[in-house]
Amino acid sequence: MIIAIDGPAASGKGTIAKRLAAHYGLRHLDSGLLYRGVAKAVIEGGRDPADRDAAVAAARAFEPGRYPASALKGDDVAKAASQVAAIPQVREALIAFQRSFARTRPGAVIDGRDIGTVIAPDADVKIFVTATPEERARRRLLELQGRGEASDEAAVLADILARDARDTGRAVAPLRQAPDAHLLDTTHLAIDPAVRAAIDIVEAVRAGRKPA
Ligand code: DC
Repeated sequence: MIIAIDGPAASGKGTIAKRLAAHYGLRHLDSGLLYRGVAKAVIEGGRDPADRDAAVAAARAFEPGRYPASALKGDDVAKAASQVAAIPQVREALIAFQRSFARTRPGAVIDGRDIGTVIAPDADVKIFVTATPEERARRRLLELQGRGEASDEAAVLADILARDARDTGRAVAPLRQAPDAHLLDTTHLAIDPAVRAAIDIVEAVRAGRKPA
């Protein structure tokens, strides 16, 4: 089984994807880490993430697992990832890895922005996870505070809105809900009920029912 989870930053899609994978015994790929890894390699090489040639070269040389996820979590890397992700040749260089991950038994849950639309358009189940920008900013702020990083809600909200605009506005593989994806709005859901709702969607699709 292949489950595609798409949605904007801090919508809850990563945690939902991880927990769905554990629940169904599937492999999990956070595809954002691939774009973050490319961005990190560009920054580490002393180049600008807006530098196309540097970003494309880094994507073509991409090795999964080169950086631990903990090294890719910062907001500077997130912003740079959103920049390199807008370059078509960067996306192209990362497609084969994601498709082969999806096809490997016993199947996978992949989360990102274009999984249901581009990477796995034939996924068994597609879920588009969203929440209001204000609620996502609130969550991101709590996360930053938890890591001891100072920030304020207005700055976090501005970052989220800028990243949303770049991810939905780019010409290639923009963030959008696939026509056959099920919408899961987590604005008023804590993580446990959100995961439960995602499992309910998967179960309904598998049983041939229309999710509630
Ligand atoms: O999910 P994330 O915040 O780790 O993603 C970081 C950036 O990578 C995001 O702003 C856009 C880009 N991205 C993408 O374009 N396509 C994906 N499938 C996953 C992430």
